[in-house]
Amino acid sequence: MEVEFIKRLKEHQDAERRLAWEGTFKDYIELVRKNPQICQLAHSRIYNMIVAAGVEAVDGQKRYKFFSRELFGLDRTLEKLVEEYFHPAARRLDVRKRILLLMGPVSGGKSTLVNLLKRGLEQYTRTNAGAVYAIKGCPMHEEPLHLIPRELRGEFQREYGIYIEGELCPVCRLRVETEYSGRIEDVPVERVLFSEEKRIGIGTFTPSDPKSQDIAELTGSIDFSTIAEYGSESDPRAYRFDGELNIANRGIMEFQEMLKCDERFLWNLLSLSQEGNFKAGRFALIYADELIIAHSNEAEYKAFISNKKNEALLSRMIVMKIPYNLRVSDEIKIYQKLIKQSDLKDIHIAPHALRVAAIFSVLSRLKESKKQGVDIVKKLKLYDGEDLEGFKQADVAELMAEHPDEGMSGVDPRYVINRLCSALIRSETRCIGPLDVLRALKDGLDQHPSVTPEERERLLNFISLARREYDEIAKREVQKAFVYSFEESARNLFDNYLDNVEAYCSGAKVRDPITDEELEPDERLMRSIEEQIGVSETAKKGFREEILIRLSSYARKGRRFDYTAHERLREAIERKLFADLKDVIKITTTTKTPDAEQLKRLSVVSERLIREYGYCPVCASELLRYVGSLLSR
Ligand SMILES: Nc1ncnc2c1ncn2[C@@H]1O[C@H](COP(=O)(O)OP(=O)(O)OP(=O)(O)O)[C@@H](O)[C@H]1O
Ligand SMILES: [Mg+2]
Ligand SMILES: [Zn+2]
Ligand SMILES: [Zn+2]
Repeated sequence: MEVEFIKRLKEHQDAERRLAWEGTFKDYIELVRKNPQICQLAHSRIYNMIVAAGVEAVDGQKRYKFFSRELFGLDRTLEKLVEEYFHPAARRLDVRKRILLLMGPVSGGKSTLVNLLKRGLEQYTRTNAGAVYAIKGCPMHEEPLHLIPRELRGEFQREYGIYIEGELCPVCRLRVETEYSGRIEDVPVERVLFSEEKRIGIGTFTPSDPKSQDIAELTGSIDFSTIAEYGSESDPRAYRFDGELNIANRGIMEFQEMLKCDERFLWNLLSLSQEGNFKAGRFALIYADELIIAHSNEAEYKAFISNKKNEALLSRMIVMKIPYNLRVSDEIKIYQKLIKQSDLKDIHIAPHALRVAAIFSVLSRLKESKKQGVDIVKKLKLYDGEDLEGFKQADVAELMAEHPDEGMSGVDPRYVINRLCSALIRSETRCIGPLDVLRALKDGLDQHPSVTPEERERLLNFISLARREYDEIAKREVQKAFVYSFEESARNLFDNYLDNVEAYCSGAKVRDPITDEELEPDERLMRSIEEQIGVSETAKKGFREEILIRLSSYARKGRRFDYTAHERLREAIERKLFADLKDVIKITTTTKTPDAEQLKRLSVVSERLIREYGYCPVCASELLRYVGSLLSR
């Protein structure tokens, strides 16, 4: 195991080493000629990275695979983000010079989205398509093409078809003069692999104290240890270009909690960062090529825009809404992902447990529709892609258009998982079922001091709606589990019924297959089946004769007359079996001593639930007990 890991470690180091490249600027020009993609700008590289992962169409909706491994139910939002920000930014349109602000409710996936971009870019720069080269020793790993003097750039562009943007940083400018006496062709260039840890190409800025934030963390600072040596603050050797904006050059800088920052600080930052240049120390504007991505919640954002003074700042940002997911099936995927990362991972999660939680959460995020005949549960199902009678998926678009801000509030996915965890700590159980989940959610509301009485009322209502949905699911599930052993039971019941009907119509006796005894036809059995489909006492004779006629016509044609051959009889048989099932379950829940036959049936169903439907013994018997109680209402 250990040896194996050391081997992996070495492989990793070798792989990184193989990617290394070093040469002169002259060599680099050669690389660029062969593969112009290596000098693309940051936004273009990011866009290409997203597209390179693939795009698929799911129900007529574009899905970018780059995000879809981690983010569920946000396809529309992500499509908008790619098409309205990343794509135009990649084509060097002006949006790229603005700060991208993701705005959405808590735990709605904003940080996850940013992390995907950051981790993705680290990986992408290790591929051929995403390779990045930089002037060796430049604190900002800048594009080597900056070395080309302004006067020659037009010519370069004509010859290579490559547009050069940006100027040398103060450090490189000085080095070209002092170390290389202007021989730019000799300046060393290297390939750089982005790494947030190593502070290459990926930066994160978190305001420490929003009120007294030091801009130096973004733009670098004077190096007091060397200032005496170089004599001046405007000597780049006396300045450390190690702010987050510096080190994130060519890649991404994440700006956490941006709107919490003091207004003056923001003003400083935004005015400096406009036009892709920022001011550091005593230097002329420094060029930077990076995606600045920030996030904030709606309350902060609203407070921010309500201040008139911020209008100008706002115009330097592109705001993208990141709402909650509104699809139950995607919400389940989110929980599954979160559970893998939590203490719940060793617990059995009963089938449908996450579904009821998801129903509750999504309901809390939906807004009522004015459309005729669409209640909130129907809307939930339509959003999740279910086909409901009388509705088309085209209606879904219409429903969505009704409330453009839908999904910006409601229960967040982390809350649900936290509730499950705390429910678990209190109980001893090794399995969580749908009812436990609903109980945990309800208890959570009771403990939540910030929930207003009206909101509490609203959420409690969603818990009971989720419960009602579950009741239907549970009943269906038990029936389904019964239906397999059912085939055989149905056939037996059917044969038994036919024997009795034959005897009844011909005035004969029925022979007991075991004791060989001659018996009167079993009137109670026949009626118990016929009553299921409303065959009255006076109509029973006609019904039985009709069955026999059908039977003999089948026999003449050499066809087997089984219970599925007669539609009404089939329905009667199925209903009778379900009614029996109802009794079996009812009895086992109400009496302490079910008989052997009942127990056997129950255990067959239970085994099936465990083997085929993902139950454990605990939740299987819980389900049967619950359905039993539902049936005896
Ligand atoms: N649509 C989604 N798809 C997948 N996972 C999601 C989704 N929404 C939330 N999550 C998960 O919920 C957790 C919280 O999300 P995240 O931290 O990204 O939210 P956030 O928007 O940054 O929240 P905050 O405003 O609190 O910083 C994460 O583990 C995230 O993966
Ligand atoms: Mg976050
Ligand atoms: Zn430089
Ligand atoms: Zn279980």
